[in-house]
Amino acid sequence: MLAGKNIVLGVTGSIAAYKIANVASALVKLRANVDVIMTRNATQFITPVTFETLTKNRCLTDTFDRSDVSEVKHIAVAQRADVILIAPASADFIAKMAHGIADDMLSTTLLAATCPVQVSPAMNTQMFRHPAVQDNLSILKSRGVTVIPPDEGHLACGADGAGKLPSEQTLLNYILREIAKEKDLTGKKVLVTAGPTRESLDPVRFITNHSTGKMGYAVARQAMLRGADVTLISGPVSISPPPFVKDINIQSAQELFNTVQSLYAEQDIIIMTAAVADYTPAETKTEKIKKSADGADLSLSLKRTTDILQWLGTRKQKGQLVCGFSMETENVLENSRAKLQKKNADMIAANSLKDAGSGFGTDTNHLVLIKKDSIIDLPLLSKEDAADRLLDSLLEL
Ligand code: CTP
Repeated sequence: MLAGKNIVLGVTGSIAAYKIANVASALVKLRANVDVIMTRNATQFITPVTFETLTKNRCLTDTFDRSDVSEVKHIAVAQRADVILIAPASADFIAKMAHGIADDMLSTTLLAATCPVQVSPAMNTQMFRHPAVQDNLSILKSRGVTVIPPDEGHLACGADGAGKLPSEQTLLNYILREIAKEKDLTGKKVLVTAGPTRESLDPVRFITNHSTGKMGYAVARQAMLRGADVTLISGPVSISPPPFVKDINIQSAQELFNTVQSLYAEQDIIIMTAAVADYTPAETKTEKIKKSADGADLSLSLKRTTDILQWLGTRKQKGQLVCGFSMETENVLENSRAKLQKKNADMIAANSLKDAGSGFGTDTNHLVLIKKDSIIDLPLLSKEDAADRLLDSLLEL
């Protein structure tokens, strides 16, 4: 995922420095080239050898050892970097960055760099709250540096509060968002619906379907990585939402409809992957029991849910793109083309439940992308890759 990308990790003096070994290792596994630059204080908490072993690159430190050829190498490292993450960033180092002080290898490298810079402060809560630190962080933000908010929790110094280095996965998410994909969706608002709906029969039972939300979550994640401002409306699923997306949880088709109604007008692209229940109970079991004195007639009466995609199709704003999904057991093309027309969608992504590796719960999908004038039969792909191809195809419209 990060092949060909150059990442610089700047490690400063904080007990959390040891965690960066896991970040370096994860980046190498994603095939990035990782250069680690450490301040002198950082070497008190973790040794350069750890990073050299993980990254297979010479770890630059601020020793300015005259025999060390890396002393000149840092300019080249700065210039080829796609992103620089300073983590953990100490209060002292943040102050240096804010004021352009270049008195060690890492601060000098930063002045020579033109790529995006991210800073992950980690320190004692009182230090973090100190106006000097907050002012310095404001200066960095005003220059376009991404400041990663520290987590709250129990800190190594014994205090409780904000100042903890976020998890390795969070730091990785920031790097991936910055450089994993071309930003061809920057400035676009994308709404994705995912997962099943639950239609309550009574306080205990409900009607639902087999959707796991994986396809919709993959679409939301890829759109976020491509720079979109993503809102994900999701029915009950067991997977976690992708980072940096606004996630809204719903249960029933009616709740989904209400949420879509309140958000659709401001969206550029709407992608409905949700497996919306076509029917919902016309009345609850409790209502039925109340009506029928002896409780004899408990047969289930159903009513159709609003077809949200069709509702959207008739209200499309100028320039807005609407994409639906269609899960078919037979006549995939015929039925999906009929849906494209009936629902006035710009694209239908069809999949056959009979295809091996496609459909509910799998990590792969075989999608056929149907537009008014074209049909693209994609190969069997991971849901992430299928999501990317779907977004590519929508952007061609
Ligand atoms: N959909 C919707 N509202 C509904 C039902 C479906 O918005 N009440 C959307 C789904 O999110 C999907 C598309 O319509 O994007 C097609 O859904 P699907 O269940 O395949 O088709 P239906 O229109 O329900 O028709 P049928 O069940 O007869 O195939």
